[in-house]
Amino acid sequence: MATMTPAAPRPLIAGNWKMNGTLQAGLAELGLLSDRIKSTRGLPEVVVCPPATLLHPAVLALAAFGAAQSVGVGGQDCHAEAKGAHTGDISADSLRDIGCAYVIVGHSERRADHGETDAAVEAKARAAHAAGLTAIVCIGETLDQRDGGRTLDVVSRQIAGSVPAGATAANTVVAYEPVWAIGTGRTPTADQVAEVHARLRADLVARFADGAAFRLLYGGSVKASNAAELMAVANVDGALVGGASLKAEDFWPIVEAKISR
Ligand code: 13P
Repeated sequence: MATMTPAAPRPLIAGNWKMNGTLQAGLAELGLLSDRIKSTRGLPEVVVCPPATLLHPAVLALAAFGAAQSVGVGGQDCHAEAKGAHTGDISADSLRDIGCAYVIVGHSERRADHGETDAAVEAKARAAHAAGLTAIVCIGETLDQRDGGRTLDVVSRQIAGSVPAGATAANTVVAYEPVWAIGTGRTPTADQVAEVHARLRADLVARFADGAAFRLLYGGSVKASNAAELMAVANVDGALVGGASLKAEDFWPIVEAKISR
């Protein structure tokens, strides 16, 4: 008798533009991406996370391009509070209000630049959930931690501390981004990615009833030339892409690496 294997989660390819992109050029790239996406079947879910200044223009532009169903928009951070006296910050409710469906929380650049702890990231993820957003929770070890043989302990501790109790496969995505692979052109081997993602999957399954269905993204120097190999690794359900997400012509081959044919 054939055994039933659970359906694999729908892959997700997300682009993190970080602090890059101007109004005209950014929307032009979204136009090019929309053209590709509208003529393609079997797509993964695609999300773009432009800087805050471009979020609402991006939502409006994707609707005008007829691609709002195919390309979601996400913020790069949110505050843990729903509103209040927090100059310069953006609430998850505000992101939702302008049409975002996603928000990245706990990116290593924010952990490093703004001292965000696992507890702070967990609070932001809870705020995202309360606002109806899907949180893309980022974790990943530094080079020191990897060289010290502590990678699996570090990522287990981060996922336990950063993913809130109320997380589900629908409202939470976990992105494994080794700090030493971000923006460096260096990537872990397929075996190293497989080892970490297997640990993350086991942690999610142990903690959540639908842990097998959470999307686990790999991020860090993903580009056209390595996307197919990285996306084929077990328990890799997509990518979080930085530099190669800024231009549609670079991003598209990564999206294509997860098209189901
Ligand atoms: P790069 O793809 O530029 O290495 O950035 C990865 C990243 O930090 C995505 O969030």
